[in-house]
Amino acid sequence: MSSLVLVEDAEGIRTIRFNRPDKKNALTREMYAAAAEALESGDTEQSIKVFIITGTDGIFTAGNDIGDFMERPPHVGGGDMPPVERFMRALLEVKKPVVAAVDGLAIGIGVTLLMHCDIVYCSDRATFKTPFVDLALAPEFGSSQVMPQMFGHAVAADLLMLGATWDANRALQTGLVTGVHSADDLAGAAHFAASVMAAKAPGSMRAAKALMRTPPEDLSDRISREGGMFAELLRSEEFAEAAAAFMERRLPDFSRFG
Ligand code: COA
Repeated sequence: MSSLVLVEDAEGIRTIRFNRPDKKNALTREMYAAAAEALESGDTEQSIKVFIITGTDGIFTAGNDIGDFMERPPHVGGGDMPPVERFMRALLEVKKPVVAAVDGLAIGIGVTLLMHCDIVYCSDRATFKTPFVDLALAPEFGSSQVMPQMFGHAVAADLLMLGATWDANRALQTGLVTGVHSADDLAGAAHFAASVMAAKAPGSMRAAKALMRTPPEDLSDRISREGGMFAELLRSEEFAEAAAAFMERRLPDFSRFG
């Protein structure tokens, strides 16, 4: 495992940490491959319930390593899947919840990847920038679709076309992040959120995520889709445990479920 990406498992939470602070955690092919492997394997390991993606003190990531890019330009969607695509597809496809904790700089793919996380916390000193047009490049990995959906076209254009830098308040106001914490409290807040989700029924958590990540459809179709999952979950061992815990006035214990 690469020391530039640290992977730590504890109490059902897999933390994936970009760890290249001397290069502002700029992401290389090796780092993408390590992070992809951590997501892919964690998604199939029963003991892992939640992922945290984070960086180091004061720096989430300065985005793609520009030297790496120039040396071997990836062709995403071009067939032979480059590590950056493997990582982003893994992030898009993991069934378990992902919490991101952003302290300091998030640039380029460091912002794009947040679109595919579930809970995003940042520190009050975090900044967000997607300088694709500044670099004579284009938006990536769905951000040209997801950002206008999330923020509306005019606000998304502030990031994707004007290349503005957003601070933590702007990120919170636009809905890019779930919450803002002091730099000292950020890791604790992310860990708390992850442990709350790790204690919940994993099948139900996967169902909620899958529904929320399903592309927009006719509302009537969505109601039927939800109804099918609801009915299936009503027959599950997880629901039996939740109902028994309610009747017995105790906390449910979902730890035996994967
Ligand atoms: N790719 C490769 N190396 C990077 C990098 C990146 N995306 N971002 C930072 N680095 C390296 C710098 O080259 C420098 O290396 P060196 O010490 O060997 O010279 C080191 O990280 C520190 O960066 P530096 O620019 O000196 O720090 P800074 O605090 O003045 O500025 C940034 C930090 C992140 C604002 C600036 O480095 C930057 O703009 N980086 C490019 C970000 C970017 O455009 N990313 C999108 C890529 S698609």
